[in-house]
Amino acid sequence: MTVDQFSLETRCLPFGEGALTLAVRTLLAGEPVALPSETVYGLAADATNARAVAAIYAAKGRPSFNPLIVHVVDRAMAEAVADFSLEARRLADAFWPGPLTLVLPRRADGPVCDLATAGLPTVALRMPDHSAMRAVIAACGRPLAAPSANRSGSISPTSATHVLASLGGRIPLIIDGGPTTEGIESTIVALGTDGIRILRPGPITAEQLSATGAAILSGGADEAIEAPGQLASHYCPDKPLRLEAKSAADGEFLIGFGAMASDYNLSEAGDLVEAAANLFAALHEADSSDARSIAVAAVPNVGIGVAINDRLARAAMR
Ligand code: TXA
Ligand code: MG
Repeated sequence: MTVDQFSLETRCLPFGEGALTLAVRTLLAGEPVALPSETVYGLAADATNARAVAAIYAAKGRPSFNPLIVHVVDRAMAEAVADFSLEARRLADAFWPGPLTLVLPRRADGPVCDLATAGLPTVALRMPDHSAMRAVIAACGRPLAAPSANRSGSISPTSATHVLASLGGRIPLIIDGGPTTEGIESTIVALGTDGIRILRPGPITAEQLSATGAAILSGGADEAIEAPGQLASHYCPDKPLRLEAKSAADGEFLIGFGAMASDYNLSEAGDLVEAAANLFAALHEADSSDARSIAVAAVPNVGIGVAINDRLARAAMR
């Protein structure tokens, strides 16, 4: 299977009724669509569908999984995804819709899939201030995960032309909403009990955040949350993990790939996008099982398999 070879026809439509209808149909079918926001263009997918989120990574050719920002259209949708403290509500009141992302505890009964948060107990949430993106989220009726709409390692796109140059042939649809107004990615803020921490500086400044009465803790990212971009904080199993297993040894939980007997098969069909979609759920299940340790079958190191193997290698190093 050639998961890293794409030969899609990429349509690029100006935002309007027809584009909206097609974007919603494509997203609800589990495929990614590039959408304009006020910061940068995002490569959006249904945040409740792990396969759809995996398709983002495949299209970007991203060699590792980072937790993604989940985009919502209103507070009701936001509060179904995450638990809001009073401080979180104050910041949302002050800056939403707009270029501020809040990292909040993920609701256990929330709709967002494990892959979108890279298995973390927190979720990064943002309510964008762009009519096209807002219309698409509202019409989908569900939150959309969206990193910047560019190939991994290249610069963030601020126009549909940038997106086409980077992802043409790899995604089915780009909605053109003109050049973005902010031009840089949203400010990301983590909320703690003693104050807030700016994880990624962006259009909403420290001064603006302070003006709401928020206490800003210095030091930026703490050791648990590394610099955005090379964020290593993912869910990591507590149990020892063995790679390239062909079968389970005594006391092992076997995570399989392809046609093989296992306790949890990432993809019986050997489909790497499906495997990526199942990865964090499989690790959670293995960790909470009665088994003493975890074994994982070999996963081909091509396409999104590179990101799966990156993640597994980190989990095995613990
Ligand atoms: O402006 C933006 O924020 C753009 C547009 C498209 O909305 N989106 C964007 O998304 O930049 P993305 O997925 O590339 O940002 C991901 C970053 C990660 O690198 C990480 O720093 C942070 O968001 N992040 C996501 N979830 C997190 C979490 N649970 N804890 C800490 N940081 C998190
Ligand atoms: Mg990016």
